[in-house]
Amino acid sequence: MSSDQPTELKTHQPPAALVAAARVSGMAAYHALVAEAEADHEAYWGRLAREFVSWKTPFTQVLDSSQAPFFKWFADGTLNVSHNCLDRNIERGLGEKTALIFEADDGAVTKVSYRELLAKVCQFANALKARGVKKGDRVVIYMSMSVEGVAAMQACARIGAIHSVVFGGFSAQSVRDRVQDAGAVMVITADEQLRGGKQLPLKAIVDEAIALGGCETLKNLIVYQRTGGKINWHPERDRWLHEELAGQPSTCEPEWVEAEHPLFLLYTSGSTGKPKGVQHSTGGYLLHAALTTAWTFDLKPDDVFWCTADIGWVTGHSYITYGPLALGGTEIVFEGVPTYPAADRFWKTIEKHKVSIFYTAPTAIRSLIKAAEGNAAVHPKNSDLSSLRILGSVGEPINPAAWEWYHANVGGGRCPIVDTFWQTETGGHVITPLPGATPMVPGSCTLPFPGITAAIVDETGADVPNGSGGILVIKKPWPSMIRTIWGDPERFKKSYYPAELKGYYLAGDGAIRDKDTGYFTITGRIDDVLNVSGHRMGTMEIESALVSCTELVAEAAVVGRPDDTTGEAICAFVVLKRSRPTGEEAKQIATQLRNWVAKEIGPIAKPKDIRFGDNLPKTRSGKIMRRLLRSIAKGEAITQDTSTLENPAILDQLTQAN
Ligand code: PRX
Repeated sequence: MSSDQPTELKTHQPPAALVAAARVSGMAAYHALVAEAEADHEAYWGRLAREFVSWKTPFTQVLDSSQAPFFKWFADGTLNVSHNCLDRNIERGLGEKTALIFEADDGAVTKVSYRELLAKVCQFANALKARGVKKGDRVVIYMSMSVEGVAAMQACARIGAIHSVVFGGFSAQSVRDRVQDAGAVMVITADEQLRGGKQLPLKAIVDEAIALGGCETLKNLIVYQRTGGKINWHPERDRWLHEELAGQPSTCEPEWVEAEHPLFLLYTSGSTGKPKGVQHSTGGYLLHAALTTAWTFDLKPDDVFWCTADIGWVTGHSYITYGPLALGGTEIVFEGVPTYPAADRFWKTIEKHKVSIFYTAPTAIRSLIKAAEGNAAVHPKNSDLSSLRILGSVGEPINPAAWEWYHANVGGGRCPIVDTFWQTETGGHVITPLPGATPMVPGSCTLPFPGITAAIVDETGADVPNGSGGILVIKKPWPSMIRTIWGDPERFKKSYYPAELKGYYLAGDGAIRDKDTGYFTITGRIDDVLNVSGHRMGTMEIESALVSCTELVAEAAVVGRPDDTTGEAICAFVVLKRSRPTGEEAKQIATQLRNWVAKEIGPIAKPKDIRFGDNLPKTRSGKIMRRLLRSIAKGEAITQDTSTLENPAILDQLTQAN
């Protein structure tokens, strides 16, 4: 939590009119749902699964815990996600309703109805089948925000292929690692992406990834022509999407899959090793994506929903590709960046499309506050934001000052802010206010979503009293939980169900509950995972990237430090193979290393600070003392015990180094 947290926090009540019409109306309704789930966890989730999901074959068993922690939900039911998101809405009479409003980087708008989207997804699905992709095959999608990106995901779901979307900012090495780990048979990409008026490569990065070797499972590369920019072409492998789609029928019988069939893998960082492929199911995942879109965002037929996340992150999966479409909603798919053509792009886009529900990240809000403070012309007050009724925040803690600004200046003081806490692994919101029920306290994600048994415990799994911080866990399984780590079930067990925690799911965050209200506040990760601009990264991953620059680097340690805009910033302490550089030379080598990390992982992993030392602070047994590095990175005086340090003089050197 940021230092600007006032001691007395103001509580904001949800507006009466919103409460009256909300899907979950008032705290009594919230408590009734919590009580229903407490009384019979399985009956509660079973009821919702029947209400929110359309099944081809109804399930007869809700939860199978026989192989815990490999839980199975609705296991003998069959369904298809794309049928739920498309055909079902057309059957309900929503065929001509706008499903997607694509707002391109340059402001061009394309509207796609449910009928059109279904036709496109079916053609796409047929094209995948024509290239031999079948149920259970993995398909990597490396695309920017586009109708085609959403359609590619839905097309995989339609034929039972497992997609793994890789964020368009990741490097060739990262793409290669994911293709290899997933054993993907196909990559779907675009020639280039457009962001902030710039054309950035995508296909060229995939070419580079394949050239690195290790992608032997890959048979086809499908390329969506976005910019028409120049790219290299390998005729034996590369296919244009428009050519693949041409002539394909616009109907395609969905592949009815078991509820536990994997819908997707999404790679995310942990505290050790390479990013892990978080595996999600079909039935349970879809249920929670739909349910949270309904209750947390109170999505109604007339709403225009805008989640600004990228489809490369879990937020884009649950709240762009799946949740809103499962409910027959209308949503924006935004290609651009918040600062182009000016830092009022979000506000102008809300005005232009009369957005009623807006969901973004604290980092974006903080940078737009700065922009508006520096230039009154881009302040949200210059845009008509009266269409908004609900605001959301995701990905990192929102500091109370940013919350209040968002509430007053974007929400006009009338829109509740849902501060949604969740993770790639949880599939959807797990702790969040409900906009027509929960009184909000800035900086707190408030209370568990009904049916989610979030709690705070100590290292032995014992409950801690409210007011004392501890480890955030979820005591009972829930439908959209991670099923396993692709190819590494042991790592799944170790990471999320450590023996000492009594079978509780370990989130990896610390949290504290308020003494009086029981409200949760997330205090940050308790492992070596950083959150930079809402992007999750492992310190070990960045360290390995640095030390893989074997020409220069002997040793590296990476820690996070608080940053006003990005939440956390990456700070690297590096020992070079040569003598310690200073002045201009240090700056040059730091730039070289930043670019190296960008090449290894992606630009989002570039360390903000790089400090060079002759050594790193280590105990006599050779363990790097990261807590000291964290203090140095923060610019704090070192008050910790340093008596076990082998080389105390190094602290002064690292403190002075820049
Ligand atoms: O530390 C928590 C933080 O983001 C982590 C999950 O990151 P990722 O899997 O990339 O998913 C991000 C989008 C859901 C969490 O372990 N986090 C996420 N939302 C919040 C948050 N921290 C505080 N408040 C939140 N609302």
